Amino acid sequence: MRKRIGILTSGGDAPGMNAAIRAAVRMGINEGWEMYGVRHGYQGLIHGEIIPLGARDVGGIIECGGTMLHTARCPEFEKHEGRLKALYTLRENRIDALIIIGGNGSQSGSYELSRMDYPVVGVASTIDNDLYGCDITIGVHTALNTALEAIDKLRVTASSTDRVFLVEVMGREYGYLALISGIAGGAEAIIIPEVEIDPEDIASELYSAYKRGKSHAMVVVAEGAQYNAEGLAKYFQDHHERLGFELRVTRLGHVQRGGDPVVFDRLLGTRLGAHALECLKNNKSGILVGYRGGKEVTIPLSDVVNNRRELELDLLKLAGVLAK
Ligand code: F6P
Repeated sequence: MRKRIGILTSGGDAPGMNAAIRAAVRMGINEGWEMYGVRHGYQGLIHGEIIPLGARDVGGIIECGGTMLHTARCPEFEKHEGRLKALYTLRENRIDALIIIGGNGSQSGSYELSRMDYPVVGVASTIDNDLYGCDITIGVHTALNTALEAIDKLRVTASSTDRVFLVEVMGREYGYLALISGIAGGAEAIIIPEVEIDPEDIASELYSAYKRGKSHAMVVVAEGAQYNAEGLAKYFQDHHERLGFELRVTRLGHVQRGGDPVVFDRLLGTRLGAHALECLKNNKSGILVGYRGGKEVTIPLSDVVNNRRELELDLLKLAGVLAK
């Protein structure tokens, strides 16, 4: 049967989303299906922003960050009424199934639609890397490289000026980006939401690094940590005289979501987008397509919304030892 499939990107954009859109569209066309894009995520779904997507429409996007379909956060979709409106749009446009590319919030939306008996396949895409059942999601590698580039550059000036620099990275309530970029950047301290710290401990850690002969230091903190950039900057400012040194603070913010996708994310987006289409071909839905153990896997959306990905805290211990 000639199917009509919609594709939507939602929540925070991630480099590699375009590769997933391109792969799904071209795989669908190869099946003889009609492919459609929903612009502006769930908001566009509610308001009927649906456009046809041909093979040429997804040309020249694999190398671009962001999402050609645009994205949005949509509180309206969190309510049952909003979801009913979205369902109405889908029926009105005779869209048989949806591919939803995004992170945790987006996949909660996928789950809700699938609970209304609508066929949905999610694609794991978020720079936060916090999706249950996935080793790595679309956008993580590019975001890590962006953070690392900043950390490396800041270390240059930290070392020239014998100062302590603190970099805050994204990740919501999850410490993955901070942990990995901190290790790869050789940080003297890494602060993540999963492990609460006392700013006094950070201060004494930095002081002992100085005593061990380090003339400068880099601290990487996750935005979701109890003491994030703002909290730590204030603490060190308030106790400046007693602690004897100050922190220079950089918040990387949305710069981590931008940039052209690195090869890994282009390939991951391509593989997961293509696999989502395969799933629909085999009449599978209510699942998330992710990457685990070196291959594409599917995870029930109910598991995705009810579980949290565990962070490998052993890596934090390792980082502590290697910072000595
Ligand atoms: O989920 C991706 C992410 O970039 C988080 O790391 C960050 O906390 C959040 O989105 C920022 O969202 P917004 O762009 O809506 O401010």
